[in-house]
Amino acid sequence: MKREVTKAIFPVAGMGTRFLPATKSVPKEIMTLVDRPLIQYAIDEARAAGIKEFIFVTSRGKGALEDYFDHAPQLEQELRRKGKSELLETLQSTNMDSGAIAYIRQHKALGLGHAVWCARRLIADEPFAVILPDDVIAAEKPCLQQMVEAYAETGGNMVAAMEVAPDKASSYGVLDVSDDMGSMVKVRGMVEKPKAEEAPSNLAVIGRYILSPSVLSSLSSMEAGAGGEIQLTDAIASEIGSENGVYGYRFRGQRFDCGSKSGFLQATVAFGLQREELRDDLSDYLHDIVNMGKAAE
Ligand code: G1P
Repeated sequence: MKREVTKAIFPVAGMGTRFLPATKSVPKEIMTLVDRPLIQYAIDEARAAGIKEFIFVTSRGKGALEDYFDHAPQLEQELRRKGKSELLETLQSTNMDSGAIAYIRQHKALGLGHAVWCARRLIADEPFAVILPDDVIAAEKPCLQQMVEAYAETGGNMVAAMEVAPDKASSYGVLDVSDDMGSMVKVRGMVEKPKAEEAPSNLAVIGRYILSPSVLSSLSSMEAGAGGEIQLTDAIASEIGSENGVYGYRFRGQRFDCGSKSGFLQATVAFGLQREELRDDLSDYLHDIVNMGKAAE
């Protein structure tokens, strides 16, 4: 089986109800961390990992997301005319090659596994990546790139993994590990959103996957799992014990759950502090409000 990964699926069909009323008219993936939409972070990470084909699984109301990837020749011209070369470069860095993006509609919200399955014809018989844009990962070497490098050694199926507080494990897919080799673990079981007392560990699946195409065949059975949804976790679990196997990869980096308001705000602060032009102002402000809080105690 070929181990080069050039296709990635971005499930972006969710309604983003946690961010209402904003998501009434703005797709969640367009909401910005500092000045870049969430989806741009996912795309940049995929590009760094060598992805060439970007498959978005969308739904009704995601038009702004498709528009975002159009080139903006008038805007570019205007910035050029005004000599705003830095902004022009920023804008051009978001341009995608013609034909590199495909959009597939998920007609019914039947779960993450179903969303991935909707892209099956575009994946055909190749390993592929899945990136959940809600999980934003700040890392020196982008997370998917770390995984692609590890995958070149293992093949099979690989999921990003991270230890979470034990009382939070039931919000995730959770791994049952047979061999722990440090950054890599061999998986002997995985369960989607287990009850607290049934979680096999606190090693959670984070939204980066490299999967073998046989996962798509398993998804075809359309069996509903946790929450009555067709779960990607269950289809990956059915690969355990096959010649492909399943690995967890403890990535190096900091993950933000931008599907939650608190995670989104934390990411905003973290990415703001990474920007040279914002760092001083923002950190002064943060110091001030923390000190004010202390003074009030
Ligand atoms: C999805 C996956 C889950 C994974 C999580 C990571 O859940 O189903 O296995 O742990 O993403 O963010 P969701 O957060 O969409 O409910």
